[in-house]
Amino acid sequence: MTVGECSNLPRHVAIIMDGNGRWARRRHLPRQAGHVAGVNAVREVVRAACDIGLANLTLFAFSSENWKRPAMEVGALMGLFRLYFRNDMKEIVERGARVRIIGNRTRVDPDILQMIEEAERSTLGNTGINLTFAFDYGGQEEIAAAARELARAAAEGRLDPEAITPELVSSRLFTHGLPEPDLVIRTSGERRLSNFLLWQSAYAELLFVDTLWPDFGRKEFTEALEQFSHRERRFGALPEAVA
Ligand code: FPP
Repeated sequence: MTVGECSNLPRHVAIIMDGNGRWARRRHLPRQAGHVAGVNAVREVVRAACDIGLANLTLFAFSSENWKRPAMEVGALMGLFRLYFRNDMKEIVERGARVRIIGNRTRVDPDILQMIEEAERSTLGNTGINLTFAFDYGGQEEIAAAARELARAAAEGRLDPEAITPELVSSRLFTHGLPEPDLVIRTSGERRLSNFLLWQSAYAELLFVDTLWPDFGRKEFTEALEQFSHRERRFGALPEAVA
């Protein structure tokens, strides 16, 4: 049975793409070469996800903490985002994907912001995969921003604090309208969430794989989905209750 035929396909897969630097170091290449190879892996995984019929894929492209990296590396990453949006958007649109970018939009270069907005606008009506890039994204800041907005509404008398439910908080997050991830994959052997989709991953299955991101392709992605299909998800209930 292929994963495409598998009844237990996750609705939403989110990936922490880690290990570009180590991939490059093992080859005595500059870190940037690892990021270039990482873009190829992005392309392959996006294609695989579309072919399999996955409904939602979210990729952690740049964290709010990644600004602390040397200016040269940040510049190289920004250059790769530009290239990716310029070169890959046509295929993404043709595949019927709806593109979203989640994160802070105040620090990004104006031309990248323009590309992001154009990608979102031109795919708004698409009904294929929801392809979301977390870019200048941090989960704690996302939750704090939602709390600020709700607190302001309460202070101004527009919201009863008793009416604040998890659903209401979710509706104020960047990911509103998307289902919560069923599966969060992190490559490269690290076992952390690193501030990625903290609220949304409350009941996600976590899968940590040793493969470095540039080596993670269609085969590894399919294997990850296969592993997910054997996980028993209980959502806090007893196994019998969901059997
Ligand atoms: C982690 O590897 C990866 C990143 C910080 C950025 C992810 C970026 C890409 C996969 C390429 C660009 C993406 C798009 C969508 C165009 P690392 O540098 O932390 O690796 P290390 O832990 O081995 O040093």
